[in-house]
Amino acid sequence: MVRGARRMDVIESCRSMQEKSESLRMDGKITALVPTMGFFHEGHLELMRVGKKHSDKLIVSVFVNPIQFGPSEDYDTYPRDLEGDLAKARDVGADILFTPSVKEMYPEGFQTKVVVERVTKYLCGLSRPGHFEGVTTVVAKLFQITKPHLAVFGQKDYQQLTAISRMVKDLFMDVKIVGVGTVREPDGLAMSSRNSYLSPEERTSALCLKKSLDLAHGMFMKGVRDAGEIKGAVENLIQKHAHTEIDYVSLCNPVTLEEVDTVSRGSLLALAVKVGGTRLIDNCIIGRGAH
Ligand code: PAF
Repeated sequence: MVRGARRMDVIESCRSMQEKSESLRMDGKITALVPTMGFFHEGHLELMRVGKKHSDKLIVSVFVNPIQFGPSEDYDTYPRDLEGDLAKARDVGADILFTPSVKEMYPEGFQTKVVVERVTKYLCGLSRPGHFEGVTTVVAKLFQITKPHLAVFGQKDYQQLTAISRMVKDLFMDVKIVGVGTVREPDGLAMSSRNSYLSPEERTSALCLKKSLDLAHGMFMKGVRDAGEIKGAVENLIQKHAHTEIDYVSLCNPVTLEEVDTVSRGSLLALAVKVGGTRLIDNCIIGRGAH
């Protein structure tokens, strides 16, 4: 063993993971879970650092969850690099990497889903039917398997974080949900595994998302309160960038995710834009600016 190398357990079976989690709890350890679909970038590593800071044992799961992808989405081509992920998670100080197969997570006969009804209806829920059901189902299963005291999610996936928080509350799950601000490239692009799909030209156009957040925030700070006016300006800005197609530009209530007509400090601006074939999302809290 290399001197100084950290030990990290790699667990593939749900049963072994459950037993390990149970024994950690029996030993009085505080455990944190960072659920991921792998292909780690700095954003994932930041979630891990936060998880580590708040726990004695950090569990990271890597599972590309088939049931949260629509039939025409990128499940098959979703970037995967388990070897690279292992090294990165170990370097950050993860104690356990849980990497189950699809068969482990969805054995034959599986037929139970967790559905959060209202907050999943808007924004991405409109163009990705069934997506959030897939997310809340897999996250509920991961919680049952890893039994964490806390779980860490990125605020870039604001609606996902909202749906999971709602699920935890509604089902009295004994897990503290921790949200972490978006990690960005130096030019402002929010980090995402899907950024790897972008051609150099599309990568430049993708900057329109962060520019939109700044524009909306700036308009609000200058006194504009009409949601239609801000959305119009944002749509204009995006359309000026090549290869872009707007899925939605939404100004909404940050808790219910319902559209607002009048923007106030704390409203959520959420965007989904297709750049080339790649669907990107970003968001900010108005009055606070992009996180
Ligand atoms: O955000 C993700 O990577 C996924 O949606 C999650 C939470 C790991 C569930 O598959």
